[in-house]
Amino acid sequence: MDLDVTADRLGVPVEDVDRVHRLADDRPSAPLPLKADAPALLDRLAVRPDDAAEIMAGWPDPGSPLWTPELRWLLDRSTALVAADLGGHGWLPPGPALRRDRGPAWRHLYVYAYLALVAVARGYHREHGIADDVSWVTLADLGRNLAIDRRMRREGWPVMQSWLTLHARGGLFELGRLQHQRGGTAIDLHIPEAGPLTPAAVDASLDEARAFFPRHFPDEHYTAFACGSWLLDPQLREYLPDDSNIIRFQQRFELDPYEEPEGIDADVEVLRFAFRTLSTPLDQLPRGTVLQRAVVDHLAAGRHWRWRRGRLPI
Ligand SMILES: CC(C)(COP(=O)(O)OP(=O)(O)OC[C@H]1O[C@@H](n2cnc3c(N)ncnc32)[C@H](O)[C@@H]1OP(=O)(O)O)[C@@H](O)C(=O)NCCC(=O)NCCS
Repeated sequence: MDLDVTADRLGVPVEDVDRVHRLADDRPSAPLPLKADAPALLDRLAVRPDDAAEIMAGWPDPGSPLWTPELRWLLDRSTALVAADLGGHGWLPPGPALRRDRGPAWRHLYVYAYLALVAVARGYHREHGIADDVSWVTLADLGRNLAIDRRMRREGWPVMQSWLTLHARGGLFELGRLQHQRGGTAIDLHIPEAGPLTPAAVDASLDEARAFFPRHFPDEHYTAFACGSWLLDPQLREYLPDDSNIIRFQQRFELDPYEEPEGIDADVEVLRFAFRTLSTPLDQLPRGTVLQRAVVDHLAAGRHWRWRRGRLPI
């Protein structure tokens, strides 16, 4: 296979194709589920009907004209790349971001890879004695992210395709209100868009994690919960009431000294999470909530948001 030709036909840098080639090496891939089983699986993964219809329409049937040899190669090797890191919990891009306006095969290639990996992840979950409900709720972040990406007019996907490899490798679990990522000595907390972040829901999720990790990963020893987020920026206290859920969440953490995070622009992340857009001009953003007004006024004043990390003892 000629990497240059493949990269050219996929419209991506050759280094990205080379990376997939190297990391997947001759590792085994995983088969897609049967097409006949896919609608029920997509439903289980909380994929909404409009997204499910697109995914079914682009299904990689043998001989489908939507699937060029390069796309088939990338699907196979990307699946192998992620499967090769089963149990890993670092950030892992499954491959290069593809153009999303070239039809469902291009748009959803990493969704098909995820569907192939569901059986792999389920096997890993079973080996660790993880209950079916936790397993499925965790994997169903796919549907939530596809719906958000649709709201974002497809602007959000490049991050999501990497994010979802955590779920597919058994690196992250959704326990009640929060998602908990394994790794090092701290469990990293993530906050899905799933209604208000009430203190009671956070307490319950932390309690669940305190029991979950020693039970299912007894060789890992966690001493803290950690979180890196726009939600921990103390500047939010200038705008949000003390009893708001975000400020009460902040109060749980001791902040690490500020360091410019690599590859994260906090202003962009705040737009992502408070407006679900990355490209709308400031003066056209809605001002419907206290947070939205705060975000716009802060940026319009020439100030910036910060991505902060904090910890709290287990
Ligand atoms: C984290 C989250 C659940 C907090 O929501 P919450 O529990 O309602 O938070 P608060 O009680 O502190 O809200 C205070 C104010 O900000 C508003 N607000 C909070 N999060 C908002 C958001 N993402 N978009 C728009 N407005 C928001 C609330 O509506 C409220 O304003 P109001 O009184 O005018 O209605 C919410 O921001 C969210 O769903 N975010 C998306 C996921 C995310 O950001 N994850 C972290 C990634 S690093």
